Amino acid sequence: MKADEIIKSFEISDDKLTQLIAMMGHELEKGLDKATNDEAEIKMLPSYVTSTPDGTEEGDYLALDLGGTNFRVLLVKISSGNDVKIEMDNQLYPISNELMTGTGTQLFDHLVKCLWDFLVQRDMMCQLLPIGFTFSFPTKHLGIKKTILVSWTKGYTASGVVGEDIGALLNDAINRRFKIRCLNFDLKIMSTVVNDTVGTMVSCAYDHHDTCMGLIVGTGTNMCYMELQKNIGTIDDGDPNDGSEMCINTEWGAFGDNSGALDSVKTFYDEIVDSESPNKGQHVYEKMISGMYMGEIVRRIIVDLHKDKELFESIDPNSVLLSCGLSTAFVSQVLHPGFDTTQIQQYLTGFGVKANENDCNLLKRICEVVSSRAAHLCAVGVVAVAKRIAQNRGTKAPTVGVDGSVYRRHPTFKKILLSKTKQLAPDLDISFELSTDGSGRGAALVAAVESRLQHLQTK
Ligand code: GLC
Repeated sequence: MKADEIIKSFEISDDKLTQLIAMMGHELEKGLDKATNDEAEIKMLPSYVTSTPDGTEEGDYLALDLGGTNFRVLLVKISSGNDVKIEMDNQLYPISNELMTGTGTQLFDHLVKCLWDFLVQRDMMCQLLPIGFTFSFPTKHLGIKKTILVSWTKGYTASGVVGEDIGALLNDAINRRFKIRCLNFDLKIMSTVVNDTVGTMVSCAYDHHDTCMGLIVGTGTNMCYMELQKNIGTIDDGDPNDGSEMCINTEWGAFGDNSGALDSVKTFYDEIVDSESPNKGQHVYEKMISGMYMGEIVRRIIVDLHKDKELFESIDPNSVLLSCGLSTAFVSQVLHPGFDTTQIQQYLTGFGVKANENDCNLLKRICEVVSSRAAHLCAVGVVAVAKRIAQNRGTKAPTVGVDGSVYRRHPTFKKILLSKTKQLAPDLDISFELSTDGSGRGAALVAAVESRLQHLQTK
């Protein structure tokens, strides 16, 4: 049976996973080393965030969050002392297609217009607070206050932004709007731009002080962690021997892109999904794990097995199963713990599918193996990074702050990730904590930590 072969091709032995951990460890080192960074597939981008919250942060902050079809503005009030708490107030503003594809000036002017409206509604204009800006696009940091956009993704093409400093573009737009509306407006406070993994780690670290890793498993997957500055060959500053750390945004989705590390575990279906993606050959590891691809891998298998008459009596020719991408929500539904065969059959009717009991069992098995493989590969990365941390700090029990739709909503991913991580790293005690709103609360906390550090410096 072809189905058995396919299922087998998604199983990765523990020995192989252990080999992959070593390979990933090697790639992490290549990315950190100045001599090899250019050719390294995992870019290990320094974030210039050098500290996680210690609970003494306080004050009012603004957080901005841009990464998709909405822009979010938040007011985050952090209190310390006896009454440690964080209060948040936020508003969503849609971003039209015209803005995504117009000019950068139009886009940033619009973002600042939303910010202005937000402040006006709260009677807070003209007293700009420190800003944490979650900008979920590939960026290169050249210091805490300098963040260069490497390329746009997710349908954005706004001109004049690639290669530019995002913080500076925001500040220019703030100046344009606020200067003419506020008397003696002087923009002293600059924004801090962060990746979503960094916000996730920092938000979690506020509640769990031993958090030193930030993981996202959602549409995409990525990890950040605290690395010793002396090991980061790509930054110039910092005393190499003082034990200071900096958060590294690994951009681990690219594992396997050049090294071929994943070639021996890639299946025929990974190859097609990759070859039909807009970024062929890039972010190979991400494509085997994250939500953007999991449903599509399952869909390809279904279509193939149906053609070979091994699955489903019939599929309606107009069914989405035969045409466009299938979301990971499909996989989650099929694996829903409360779903029995009759419910799966009913669910499949919505997709124009006639399925018998055997079909339902086979479909479940397919969803299981694709999901388990994703969780197993993700565990490889978690262990590779945790091993580095153990080596650097001697920390054997790190906490990973996690977020993302797959981690939150897939019925089995989280459980499998946790148990595989434990099994692959018996000498470590890695714990996972769900992070609260990394891109809002987390970004504000990054700005708060920055303010605390600057305050210490000026004392
Ligand atoms: C993609 C992006 C990365 C982001 C991740 C999760 O891999 O390149 O920056 O952190 O998705 O959203």
